[in-house]
Amino acid sequence: MHMIRANIVIPLTSAIIFIFGCTGASYAAQSNNKLWLSDMDLSKMSVGWGKAIVDKSIEQKTLTIDSKTYAKGVGSHAPSVMHIKLDGQTQRFSATVGVDDETAGLGSVVFKIYGDSKKIFDSGVINGPDPAQKINVDLSGITHLVLIAKSANDGVDYDHADWADAYFEYKGVAPVAVDRPVGEKNILTPKPGPEPKINGPRVFGTRPGNPFIYRIPATGTRPMEFTAENLPESMDLDTDTGIIKGFSPDKRGDYNITFKATNPSGSDQRSFKLTVGDTLALTPPMGWNSWYIHYSRVTDVDMRAAADIMIDSGMADFGYMYVNIDDCWSKRKNDKPYRSELGTILPNEKFPDMPALTEYIHSKGLRAGIYTSPGPWNCAGYTGSYQHEQADAQTFAKWGFDFLKHDWCSYGNYVIDNTHYEFVKPYALMGEILKNVDRDIVYNLCQYGIGQVWTWGTQVDGNCWRTTGDLGLMSGYLEVGLSNARHYQYAAPGRWNDPDYILIGWVGDAHGHGQGAPCKLTGNQQYQYMSMWSLMAAPLIFSGDMTKLDDFTKNILCNSEVIDIDQDPLGQQGEIIVQNDDYFIMKKQLLDGSIAVGLFNTCEIEMPITVNFEQLEIQGQYQVRDLWRQKGIGTYQNQFKSEVGRYGVTFVKMTKVNK
Ligand code: GLA
Repeated sequence: MHMIRANIVIPLTSAIIFIFGCTGASYAAQSNNKLWLSDMDLSKMSVGWGKAIVDKSIEQKTLTIDSKTYAKGVGSHAPSVMHIKLDGQTQRFSATVGVDDETAGLGSVVFKIYGDSKKIFDSGVINGPDPAQKINVDLSGITHLVLIAKSANDGVDYDHADWADAYFEYKGVAPVAVDRPVGEKNILTPKPGPEPKINGPRVFGTRPGNPFIYRIPATGTRPMEFTAENLPESMDLDTDTGIIKGFSPDKRGDYNITFKATNPSGSDQRSFKLTVGDTLALTPPMGWNSWYIHYSRVTDVDMRAAADIMIDSGMADFGYMYVNIDDCWSKRKNDKPYRSELGTILPNEKFPDMPALTEYIHSKGLRAGIYTSPGPWNCAGYTGSYQHEQADAQTFAKWGFDFLKHDWCSYGNYVIDNTHYEFVKPYALMGEILKNVDRDIVYNLCQYGIGQVWTWGTQVDGNCWRTTGDLGLMSGYLEVGLSNARHYQYAAPGRWNDPDYILIGWVGDAHGHGQGAPCKLTGNQQYQYMSMWSLMAAPLIFSGDMTKLDDFTKNILCNSEVIDIDQDPLGQQGEIIVQNDDYFIMKKQLLDGSIAVGLFNTCEIEMPITVNFEQLEIQGQYQVRDLWRQKGIGTYQNQFKSEVGRYGVTFVKMTKVNK
């Protein structure tokens, strides 16, 4: 419900006041007027829970901070934001802020005020039991004010943020609450040209003698002719499609292949090191997963359509290759039989022929993924692999799957005690089995970070492991990303921290209701999301609706230079080198000696962010390239500074100038 209240003008002095009503704006010629924050249009205040309340707390009780009550003010729940237009003649904003006593001492909030892009008030963290803080800020000359109540870094629970006794003193036009900026979705990346450009990983792991499939990712006008110099004899290249099929060589070692693509507009080549050994996923897996759009509705037809679109939309030309079914392909609880007489797991009626499905996906040069649980039931109540691990892994391999997501779900009921051994056991079991099936199956652990999986995921032959709960259930990519970022030292080729899927475009939430909707993130936030995932060498798995891919979403997902940062063969996960309340900076070392750097603005307003070369641990002159715009932006030394949009990112590659 929108609460729109008339602006009430109260003279502060006893001087005679002239009010001219002809323009509709209240105007006082002589002295200051007073406008209570709670008399403004509070429908413009966005709040983390519920809606902003006039003269009461968020739970509609008397505003109370540290046992003191206030008759006027606004009760909100962090994170809350309000943009206010001023005419430059507003003199002061005064308030008393804190966490309302109704939380019984819980919750913690930071109050901030920005005036024309400068911070003019910062309360620091105010915890539940803390006394209120007084605000009394000079607003002269300011035309745009932003009031913020942020959750401190401990989640949003109980963050009942009170703006008590809050009012403006003004001379000219009364302050007006305005809409929060929408956050344009600007396409920053130039479209690929007609000439061939080969993309995708530069190193690729496979096990000896296993079936092999790879489609050389390349943009440019088709038809195009492909060659692959030094391709092992056990493999064949289709020179029209760029699809390689066959078997990995029996002999272990590195095979240095050169791909070349040619069309009438030009040609391109790229080296591709095929490493035949024990480790798969030498770069983070890239693809699509069905969960956040199809949920329990997923069908064989959806999976085929996703494969078609991965090719037709051009996503595969940038390296996306896994087409992964999530939960809900097996038989649902009570829909017996769950297995054949021989014990083979049965798909439900929506998946009539699994081998035919993977064959279809493979025919496009793509790879197929499947899902199960170490428990008897998957998270959505479909058959899992408990006590059938060997048989199921063999079935998945036989059906032709190349990727397995192994989701903890009901396994919790089989844990005897909460020891490390019990957490590791089901994954060690499946990891050992997968290593020995006659197919390369990338092993994706999904157990939400239990038992610090990042410290042992590699010991159970996992290739990537979710480090948090479901992104769709949490407060968003930033919370999940910042949590995942902490484990940077555990990532390496073949072992990646997985902060969950890329939920942009047309997408649902983790509850699985409805048919999805356009994601609510601003354009800038989506640039942050993808930049962060790339800097963290995260698996790049999109989980939105493939049939509703729009140009902006494709622009976020398909920037070859951004993807190259994610796929860099050195396999380092970027590290946060600076973090404060307003921004953070992430740096990733790349194989060629250059570094990728992201300046992330986590604030409601645009601001300049500077990174010093000492912070980056570099010296000398560096060429800086804007990765989203794919263009050089100059040579820098000592520091790099950039104006970064509201919740936006400047994402650059910095390469030393050789003298
Ligand atoms: C868990 C996982 C999700 C998804 C669902 C399916 O919640 O974390 O990614 O696979 O199960 O039920």
